[in-house]
Amino acid sequence: MVAVAILAAGRGTRMKSHLPKVLHSLGGRSLVERVLQSLSKINPTRQLVIVGYNSELVKNSLAHYPGLEFVEQTEQLGTGHAVQQVIPYLQDFEGDLLVLNGDVPLLRPETLELLLKTHQKEQNAATILTAHLPDAKGYGRVFCNGNNIVTQIVEDRDCSPAQKQNRRINAGVYCFQWSRLAQVLPQLTSSNDQKEYYLTDAVNYLKPVMAVDVEDYEEILGINDRKQLAAAYDILQTRVKEDWMRAGVTLIDPDSITIDDTVQLEPDVVIEPQTHLRGKTSIQTGSRIGPGSLIENSSIGESVTILYSVVSDSVVQANTRIGPYAHLRGHAQVGNNCRIGNFVELKNSTLGDRTGVAHLSYLGDATLGEKVNVGAGTITANYDGVRKHRTIIGDRTKTGSNSVLVAPITIGSDVTIAAGSTVTEDVGDDALVIARSRQVVKPGWRLKSASDAENKA
Ligand code: UD1
Ligand code: CA
Repeated sequence: MVAVAILAAGRGTRMKSHLPKVLHSLGGRSLVERVLQSLSKINPTRQLVIVGYNSELVKNSLAHYPGLEFVEQTEQLGTGHAVQQVIPYLQDFEGDLLVLNGDVPLLRPETLELLLKTHQKEQNAATILTAHLPDAKGYGRVFCNGNNIVTQIVEDRDCSPAQKQNRRINAGVYCFQWSRLAQVLPQLTSSNDQKEYYLTDAVNYLKPVMAVDVEDYEEILGINDRKQLAAAYDILQTRVKEDWMRAGVTLIDPDSITIDDTVQLEPDVVIEPQTHLRGKTSIQTGSRIGPGSLIENSSIGESVTILYSVVSDSVVQANTRIGPYAHLRGHAQVGNNCRIGNFVELKNSTLGDRTGVAHLSYLGDATLGEKVNVGAGTITANYDGVRKHRTIIGDRTKTGSNSVLVAPITIGSDVTIAAGSTVTEDVGDDALVIARSRQVVKPGWRLKSASDAENKA
């Protein structure tokens, strides 16, 4: 049996932030959420999150995770003190306790699996994850005898100059036989530079403690300041982009592209420079996105092109062309083979197949049928100052340039709306609507000249 304890009570002073450190976002997910994600291969029977600084905020942010138990550490007296708080919660627990720092967000699930397997196979009192870092500054140094048996962990600030030369570091990820850890936790003291109770001192009381090296040291980066947060983002981005390229996605100038790890892509998608894919976005094969586009929480069908545009919370079906400079938002749904062109905004609107909105339009709260042609500058006036209203337009209808459709309004199928019309009343099928003042021409009329006016006087 395995229980997990995640240490998430610290403020994270070095972040210089009011937000608890573990709630800082890394590619759309908080640090602590990423730690939870790294447990996907463990299947723990209990999951305890130790909270303290701004604990309500941390608890609320994790409210949608089932089965978490929150343990309060009212004063943050160190990582050892944090784990002491779980003693009353695990009175009758028999098995192993996996302890994870809440600020180590890039661990691979396979790494934790390996740590736990080694711990159980070797029947260690404790097994800790270590890495050899090019620059070990800030990390606890791990000292071993020849067989990866840990003799001591010394925090960076407590190290002698000679000890600082050791670049094998403590990742902040540990497996303990719980019954044995529970016995030694009360013995920890705070006789160190920070006057804190260090969990790492527990290794002085346990035998044997084994170190397991992580293969890719980038996994164990701990986030203590904004620079490390940015470095972690870089590592995450490199991982995600390399995975997609291996899976058959073309990235043109990958350094200028960002892709959240929640995004789904298909082979033969092409992502052009300066494009950002975020949240729950999926893009089907043959589509070409960018340059210069932002796609957020949207599904994009096959062979769609999107050029210099922003698409949020929307659905775009196959073979549709979007942009340049279009903005789809608020659950816009665009059918197959549509054309959404320059300077067009769609909000909460549904467009049938083969409908075109090629230039300079705002369609808000509108439902359009198939093969509708929306003329340049057509606007749905959907807001009366208090409420939003819908506009409905039937199949094959054409709106003239600069038409205003004042909602709520229903326009039938096969309707033609004359350019410059302001349409305020419903129109049935198969009709021409002209809703503008008639042009007046007065032959021979001229503006009176100044000399005419003087002669009269
Ligand atoms: C810790 C380790 C260090 C290791 C490094 C890896 C100790 C003493 N040191 O150092 O050996 O190399 O992580 O990243 O453990 N926390 C609490 N309550 C507290 C204090 C901290 O919950 O009273 C939480 C923090 O919110 C954080 C985690 O524990 O998520 C680690 O604390 P932090 O202060 O960042 O430890 P480091 O100095 O990085
Ligand atoms: Ca840390």
